[in-house]
Parts: sequence; C-alpha cells; structure tokens
Amino acid sequence: MITRYIAVNPEHPEPQAIAEAAAVIGGGGTVAFPTETVYGLGANGLDPAAVERIFVAKGRPRGNPLILHVASALQARRLAAAWPDGAESLTARFWPGPLTLILPRSAGRPGRPQDACLLPPPDIVTAGLDTVALRMPSHPVALALIEQSGLPIAAPSANRSGRPSPTLAEHVRADLDGRIDLVLDGGAAAVGVESTILDLSGEQPLLLRPGGVTREALEQVLGTVLVHETARPGAVVAPGDTELAPCPGTLFRHYAPLAEAIVVTGDAREQQAKIGDYLAAHTGERVALLVTAENAPAYRRLTDVASCREDASGEAAGRPAAPVRMEVVGSRSRPEEIAARIFGALRNCDQAGAEVILMESVPLSGMGLAVMNRLYRAAANRAI
Ligand code: TXA
Ligand code: MG
Repeated sequence: MITRYIAVNPEHPEPQAIAEAAAVIGGGGTVAFPTETVYGLGANGLDPAAVERIFVAKGRPRGNPLILHVASALQARRLAAAWPDGAESLTARFWPGPLTLILPRSAGRPGRPQDACLLPPPDIVTAGLDTVALRMPSHPVALALIEQSGLPIAAPSANRSGRPSPTLAEHVRADLDGRIDLVLDGGAAAVGVESTILDLSGEQPLLLRPGGVTREALEQVLGTVLVHETARPGAVVAPGDTELAPCPGTLFRHYAPLAEAIVVTGDAREQQAKIGDYLAAHTGERVALLVTAENAPAYRRLTDVASCREDASGEAAGRPAAPVRMEVVGSRSRPEEIAARIFGALRNCDQAGAEVILMESVPLSGMGLAVMNRLYRAAANRAI
C-alpha cells in the first residue's frame, strides 16, 4: 500500500484536502489526522471492516477498544444509551477538547428495526464492552474531517502499538508509512499527551487516564473525582491483571521507546545527584537525558567538568559519560509545556541511538499527573 501525504492548514483546512480525506473514510480506508492531543488514525467507526484496518496497521491487540470521535454532543448522544447529568455539564464545559467520556453503549433492540436516532457502535470498536468511549476533538482539521465524512470516526493514536504517540506527521510516517491510506499533515499537536479518559458509566466518575483536561479542572465541575488505581503514576499492574485493569489499554507497557527508560525521582537537587551518579557509574552506556529547563545547566556543566578533568589528569577513567542526547522538555513549573514535548523527546532519544533514557520526574499537580503517567509507562515503572 502506498501512503499519501497531504499538507493541510491547521487553522483553516483546505476544503479539497478534507474532501479527499473524507472520501477515504467513507470508502472504508484509513486516514491519520492531527488532533489537539496527538495524531489519530481514523476509520469509519460504524464499519467493522474499516475499523479492522486500524488494528492491522497498528498491530493493536483486539481486546483494546477505540475512541469514537464526533463533531457534536448530539452525535455523541446517538452512540450512547444514557446521557447522565455529568455528561451534560462536562461536554458543555470541555467539548470540543481533550476529554473522552466512557458511557453506556447504545444498542439496537432485538426484534425491532433499528431506531433511526441510535447509532450502535460495532463490537470491534468497543471490544465487546457494554460501554463506549466518546470524544469531540477541538482541532479544526479533525472537526472538519468528522463533519465532512458525516460519520463517527474511530481513532486510536497513530503509532505502532506500544510506541510513543505521534505529535508530528513525521512520527506517523516513521511508524505507519505503507500501512495506511492517507496522512493529513497539519503540523504539531499542541497538547502533546492524549485526552483525559473519564468513566461516567458507573456510580461515581472515575479517571481512567489523566490527559489534556486536568483532574483539578474536572473537579471544578463534578466535585471529587476518583483516580483509578491503574492511572496513578507508577501503579504496578501486571498484564492480565483484569481486576485492576478496566480495559487492556491500561496495561503498563505502553508509549515505550526502544531504549530502556528510567524515571528519576526526588526533588531537583536529588535528581541532579542521581543523574550525575548514574553517568559516572555507567560510562560504557549510551545515555540520553530528558530533563527540565531548571536542571539542564547542571548537566551541561557536568559534561564540561568531565572534559576538563580529562585534560588535567590525562585519564578518562571514572569520569561521567557525556550524554548522547539531552532533551530539555520545559520548566517544571509549567508541566503543560513538558506534556507537549515528551513523546517527541522520547523518539529523538531513540534516534540518537540511546540505550538508556534517564527522565526527570515533575510534581503531580495539573498536567504533571498526565506527564508522570506517561513517563512511568514508558519506563515500565523502572525508577531510581
Ligand atoms: O487524545 C486521544 O484520546 C487520542 C486522539 C487520537 O483522540 N486517542 C487515543 O486513542 O489516545 P488510544 O486508542 O491510543 O487510547 C484510547 C484509550 C485506550 O486505552 C482504550 O483502552 C480506552 O481508551 N478505551 C476505549 N474504549 C473504552 C471503554 N469503553 N472503556 C474503557 N476504556 C476504553
Ligand atoms: Mg494510543
């Protein structure tokens, strides 16, 4: 299969580009498109054969359900069997935007012709669950594509299964070239981590995945929001641990770079010391650093000191290895800045040939929760 690439204006998408992409969706094909969170890989969410192509292209496990992307709350209601008060207030406040709601799935009634108002999502979308994931993205390209196709679009992140989510069209190309029909290149995805997933199908709202809408923002609307055990950074969940994992998407190995990633815990000074010690003790390793702006100068200095010492003593033994790559992801007081960069930074470290990536942790407030959830998953919970 040859993948086509069409550049599209992210603010004012060209109607011709959207029409071509919508025709591919309508014809049962696959289109990668930008959203405000990450790039999605879309197909007609009501056509099981089209959705199947998403699973094949990504190498995604069948049991992992997909989000249906809609262009209005009205369209979402037709896919859900119930629309609780929480859905009304949350969609009024956060849609369009990076919030996915889990709701009871609408179903055709046996023995009755399909109710024209209901759009039952196929089993392959929901992985047979009696709930469905719904989101209305705010990116103009995503919205235009959904509207133009007239369909709910099933779309996971447009990466090979298990890899870091794509925030640029070139990340999509690296993972899926030759495996999908079309890529709409609309530049960088601004939020950088996926949508927040909130389960409204039970008695109490439950945060399944921290993301672009913070827990604090949700709580302003709903009051206290519980965080599912598996959504907490560093939660230890073994694959197959079905009691803890509400769906296979929360298995801990995820967003994985090729290198072995390790979270560095502690405050800024402790992190500096741990990274310095690690570099000194692992001189033979190709180590990359994913660090905050506040600490970055310390590692630059460390590298300088290392080379001075070598000049002075004439021997390299015991000096810290210079990192093969240092990704400065942003200020620790602005985790949304870090969120926008982490997935690209992990890919850059891989490209630099890193064997190990040391990743500084940040506080868990605001977008820090989503950032640390992704870092711990990338590290399969390894931490120093
Ligand atoms: O920001 C996003 O949400 C991006 C963009 C493209 O919209 N999409 C995305 O999709 O991150 P994906 O497939 O990579 O992640 C969707 C997550 C998976 O972990 C899946 O298990 C979960 O949503 N999910 C889908 N349906 C569910 C359901 N009925 N109950 C619980 N979790 C569900
Ligand atoms: Mg994904």
